[in-house]
Amino acid sequence: MLGSDGHESNYDWDFIQHYVKEDKRDRSVTQDQHYWGAEIASNPPTVSYNEVMNSDQGVADLTAKIQKYGFSFISSTPSHDPDLTRQVLERIAFIRLTHYGGFYDFIPDLAMADTAYTNLALPAHTDNTYFTDPSGLQAFHLLSHTPPPGVSAETVQGGASLLVDGFNAAKVLKKEDPKAYEILTQVRLPWHASGNAGITITPDRLYPVLEVVDGELGRVRWNNDDRGVVPFGEGYTPEEWYGAARKWDEMLRRRESEYWVQLTPGRVLVFDNWRVMHGRSAFEGIRRICGAYINRDDWISRWRNTNFDRKKVLDSVIG
Ligand SMILES: [Fe+2]
Repeated sequence: MLGSDGHESNYDWDFIQHYVKEDKRDRSVTQDQHYWGAEIASNPPTVSYNEVMNSDQGVADLTAKIQKYGFSFISSTPSHDPDLTRQVLERIAFIRLTHYGGFYDFIPDLAMADTAYTNLALPAHTDNTYFTDPSGLQAFHLLSHTPPPGVSAETVQGGASLLVDGFNAAKVLKKEDPKAYEILTQVRLPWHASGNAGITITPDRLYPVLEVVDGELGRVRWNNDDRGVVPFGEGYTPEEWYGAARKWDEMLRRRESEYWVQLTPGRVLVFDNWRVMHGRSAFEGIRRICGAYINRDDWISRWRNTNFDRKKVLDSVIG
């Protein structure tokens, strides 16, 4: 083959024959997904801190569980030093920097201008709806919960965490109310983060609540606090969108959809922010929480490379 610059390249006939036709990528590098509701409370996916820290098999198990269930706990994580939580999360991949920083370690602080930093109840939502590429994983570790004066540690109220499987909820919605599902996949919305001076983040284009690509649901964006005005001209009226959103919201709040769990020191929660929504009940006292975001492509790369051999990985991404 002679290029326009006169450079000659030679390719084996086998190589050309291999790539000349359709996509040859190996599609067997997958993980079955298990959709869940409240019943997941009886046996939530868990991998131990030591397994993750000491072996790639531990990382393989952790990332495969997150692929399958959309979340996993890392048990027996030391809680006296947040840096150890950072280290166990970095076994998955490097931590993502955002306008809030990187690895975080915080107590309620309204100066941060974000509801996560208050002690208010938060309904089920996904984070980073305002990024073109929302963080793939999010992790929390409750390091301590100090009761307010006069309240004992045993009776301190609130702060339970909520998880909802967004893919499961979407599946139920599609069955119960196909029109509402259709509207949430079709109507594209503006999203933004503008609460901090000098920062206005918004995705490259409008995105729907339920993103379907090649017939498959790939991502949920759901956060009332980050959503802009529902637009006209998206094929449905704002009234129709709100009707569908009301149905979706009602579905997320059903008892059978909600997995409530009291976080405790030592138990790190890691979840897929493209699939699983999170929230919490209001709480009293002071909670110290650390955690981080990790990019989607990076954690999927780690999952792929710890769960499959190199040849299979290359066959799956190059063909
Ligand atoms: Fe959040």
